[in-house]
Amino acid sequence: MVDWQAFGKQVTELPQIQPTEDEELTYTYEGTRLLKVSPESTMNDMKTFQVREDDLYLISYPKAGTTWMQEIISMVVHEGNEEEVNKTHVFFRFPFLEMSWVSHYSQVDMLPPTHKLIEQMDSPRMIKSHLPGELLPPQIYEKKPKVVYVARNPKDCAVSFYHFHNLDMTLQSYKTWDAFFTEFYDGTVYNGSWFSHNLFWWNKRHEPNVLFMKYEDMKKDLKGAVKQTAKFLGKQLTDDVVARIADHCTFAKMKKNLSANPDTLGFNEDDCKKEEKKKAQPSFMRKGKVGDWKNYFSVAQNDLFDRRFQETMADTGLDFDFN
Ligand code: PPS
Repeated sequence: MVDWQAFGKQVTELPQIQPTEDEELTYTYEGTRLLKVSPESTMNDMKTFQVREDDLYLISYPKAGTTWMQEIISMVVHEGNEEEVNKTHVFFRFPFLEMSWVSHYSQVDMLPPTHKLIEQMDSPRMIKSHLPGELLPPQIYEKKPKVVYVARNPKDCAVSFYHFHNLDMTLQSYKTWDAFFTEFYDGTVYNGSWFSHNLFWWNKRHEPNVLFMKYEDMKKDLKGAVKQTAKFLGKQLTDDVVARIADHCTFAKMKKNLSANPDTLGFNEDDCKKEEKKKAQPSFMRKGKVGDWKNYFSVAQNDLFDRRFQETMADTGLDFDFN
């Protein structure tokens, strides 16, 4: 049993340390660039992390719509009981496997790393991870717990990821979009290549314990996404409950919901609460749209990226709506 409320209080009471401009916030672990707030000791522990058959893993490349799916799954599990879901902040409903809850890596020893708390959780556990398939606990592939993988078209993922680097203090900020684009294209951003991350789970999409969901499909048909998730989790929901869950999980409702908006934990809680400031301040809940990449990709970057996408995805069957 873990007291997440008490832990959350400890997290918010830690001093917020702003890294200096040139500070290196990442390191390389077995060929993949990772954040120092997911230190080597944690990554070594992943190799023997005890997976339970009734765990639920939500896995994604960063900025694919993880938080959105966390909210959908939470509401499905609680059969549309908003009050129950809102009792716990979304971060603690789905603790972040490889993460330490600190604003700066120099604080990693101040609080227990999340995976140590997850070990003490009662079953069934819901766990979030952005790790590439090769770095996840190997027992996931032996015990085969349920895995929901959320995928988002790489161009919108890249733009969202770029903005996130300038929002979250544990990440290196990039001075320009062009600088970020180059690293995203090269797969040297933290958590590595979008392509290999997505293809790893795409290739497992037919396994019965895996649900592969696309952000763009969730956008197009949220009720359909709720139904698909419920079916995968073995929940029978009435049309009424499905409609209530879809309504609770719209971008606008989640942005206003203090339990669902990550701004309320570690980013800019005050701004999240102040209606008049909301529009001006950067937010985790940024735009929530398909196609924002068009405001960032130059024609040359788009051509380059399209070529890479076509070459890499040829014969895989994995495609996305980009508009
Ligand atoms: S993280 O930090 O990697 O866990 O981020 P993640 O939650 O995967 O992705 C954040 C982006 O998802 C958008 N989002 C939503 N879009 C549509 N509808 C809903 N309800 C929703 N909730 C979150 C969020 O705004 C980020 O995308 P951008 O493009 O930056 O707005």
